[in-house]
Amino acid sequence: TIEVVHTISDLRARVSAFRRSSEKPVGFVPTMGFLHEGHASLIRQARERCGLVVLSIFVNPLQFGPNEDFERYPRDAERDLQVAEAAGADIVFMPDVAEMYPRQIRTTVSVTGVSERLCGASRPGHFDGVATVVSKLFHMVQPDQAFFGLKDAQQVAVIQQMVNDLNFPVEIVPCPILREADGLALSSRNVYLSDEERKQALVLSQSLKKAENFVQSNPNFAAHELTQLVQNHIVTAPLAQIDYVEVLEYPTLVPFESSYLSDLTSIIVAVAVKFGNTRLIDNIILPIG
Ligand code: PAJ
Repeated sequence: TIEVVHTISDLRARVSAFRRSSEKPVGFVPTMGFLHEGHASLIRQARERCGLVVLSIFVNPLQFGPNEDFERYPRDAERDLQVAEAAGADIVFMPDVAEMYPRQIRTTVSVTGVSERLCGASRPGHFDGVATVVSKLFHMVQPDQAFFGLKDAQQVAVIQQMVNDLNFPVEIVPCPILREADGLALSSRNVYLSDEERKQALVLSQSLKKAENFVQSNPNFAAHELTQLVQNHIVTAPLAQIDYVEVLEYPTLVPFESSYLSDLTSIIVAVAVKFGNTRLIDNIILPIG
């Protein structure tokens, strides 16, 4: 049965005991809790590939801006444990803020380039907070494999760059986006949406589907045609306030110019849209060439 640990020393003891008894890989799924099927899919992927599955639940203050939702971020520890156990986690690491940040932090990890556009531009400091906490968690868990969702495709690119640059001995496993039947990408923040906002939020996934169809039927498309198409659909929702719509190369996240493309590459169409105070993101990665 699932085991809950709150301290770094209990976590280390538990992972070491597994390492002494097994050669199988240790898998790690970092989360901020309020678990949904998207998180569960990462846990199941880890369960398939690893002998020990460690899940962390920690709402990381370092990655929230001063006017963001750190204080009101949804939390439900009891339900999270049920979801985690059903999906196959062995250990849930739930540190409090004092365990993770016992004194003022003076060392941070900052990934340049890939962190700068999209959510990096809208949320200054966000990816430094993510890279720093994920570094700390990697050092605490010392996993062989770590599982991240492509719902946060820029986060995957940032963590992969960090792991490459700083030689973390971990394999990053990107996992597909899980969606509701009607297309809305699962997110802990969806609970903030009113019924009307929830309906209108469908424009995100719909606009990305349109982008995919457009690329398939217009192989020589220009980036601005794609952003225009996506924007035009999002603005059909009266409550939608666009934060960004961008088309970039993936995973480099540099501007995409069809003329510069090497023949084997991918693009990402990424959107961030606010409904009231709720900011939703979604994306699609399209292989081209
Ligand atoms: P959180 O938003 O809780 O997400 C945890 C993981 O679940 C991330 O890898 C995210 O991409 C993945 N995920 C969320 N929604 C998903 C969906 N609909 N389909 C597939 N995967 C999905 O991302 C964070 O937490 C934090 O930044 C963290 C990495 C834990 C660092 O604090």
